[in-house]
Amino acid sequence: MLLLALETSCDETSAAVVRDGKVLSNVVSSQIKLHAEYGGVVPELAAREHLKNLLPVAQAALQEAGVTSPELDAVAATQGPGLGIALLIGFKAAQSVAFALNKPFLGINHHEAHLYSPWIAGTPPVADFAAFQPNVSLIVSGGHTMLVLVESELKHRVLGGTIDDAAGECFDKTGKLMGLAYPAGPVIDRLAEQGNPKAYDFPRPLLHDANDDFSFSGLKTSVRYFIRDHPTLLDDPQKVRDLCASVQAAIVEVLVKKTIRAAKRENVRCITASGGVTCNSGLRRQLEHACQNNGFTLRLAEKSLCTDNAAMIGILAERKFLASVLLPSLDEEIKPGWALA
Ligand code: KG4
Ligand code: ZN
Repeated sequence: MLLLALETSCDETSAAVVRDGKVLSNVVSSQIKLHAEYGGVVPELAAREHLKNLLPVAQAALQEAGVTSPELDAVAATQGPGLGIALLIGFKAAQSVAFALNKPFLGINHHEAHLYSPWIAGTPPVADFAAFQPNVSLIVSGGHTMLVLVESELKHRVLGGTIDDAAGECFDKTGKLMGLAYPAGPVIDRLAEQGNPKAYDFPRPLLHDANDDFSFSGLKTSVRYFIRDHPTLLDDPQKVRDLCASVQAAIVEVLVKKTIRAAKRENVRCITASGGVTCNSGLRRQLEHACQNNGFTLRLAEKSLCTDNAAMIGILAERKFLASVLLPSLDEEIKPGWALA
């Protein structure tokens, strides 16, 4: 089956063409530079940028895949969760294409799609569902931090999530306190590589709580007070690197330990991870180490598929069409608050 997928839930405009589990093209136009000036995503600006970029991005995806729109068997788009006015653009455009071509349409949950991105690998990328095994999946981005039990393909149960800030938000906000550019996550990652993770001791929130929830706002506050109480620290580049390494160590330790604990309790042998923060070298390393020590298989989404992309939307949509899980509908509306169950 040949399918076009669109993703516009936040600040990436993306279109992908997939055929029989293969990603033929996955074009992503990031708006990071546009929002950097504001220190976060501005919904109105994001929507205008999606409007401007969606058509060229979709055209590029079709061209790269070597297909034309009349050849498509189906169209899919992210239905939620996400920024309402951003979601609307990709979702309504995809419905319009489906309507014009008289082809089925499918709205996809963005988080559910993240659950399957770690199974997409190789060049060109292919969904390796033959290798699928029940897993605990960590989704960590600027907007979300979740642990999900994926019992079988298309069957999952949310185990826990953040009760305040997401892990990516914590990277970005603590980085802002250090005067780093937005988004600070990748900058902290780079500086942390040359820093001492044990230099400063920050709290590991909810690490020992008997649940799978996360909380990162307290960590952010303790970094704020730490910087306030050590005003000259930011003038010393090595101390900034140590601070980055120490903050990253606190975030990563909580993510890794809680993920491993959940996998053990749920009796699965596999852990997967996706979302922008999964690009973090410390997190990737620590997860690899912990999985090796505990005999778990680890599937990390490839870095290009960690951040938001339409390939994961297309792969899941195709899977759903083939499994007839959802009846395609053109009457559906966006669901900005669509929580994964
Ligand atoms: O998945 P994503 O592109 O967008 C959503 O938030 O949905 O994730 C972006 C987040 C930002 O908070 C960014 O700082 C963080 O992922 N991020 C990283 C790294 N790369 C991206 N955080 C830590 N280390 C990185 N290397
Ligand atoms: Zn995402």
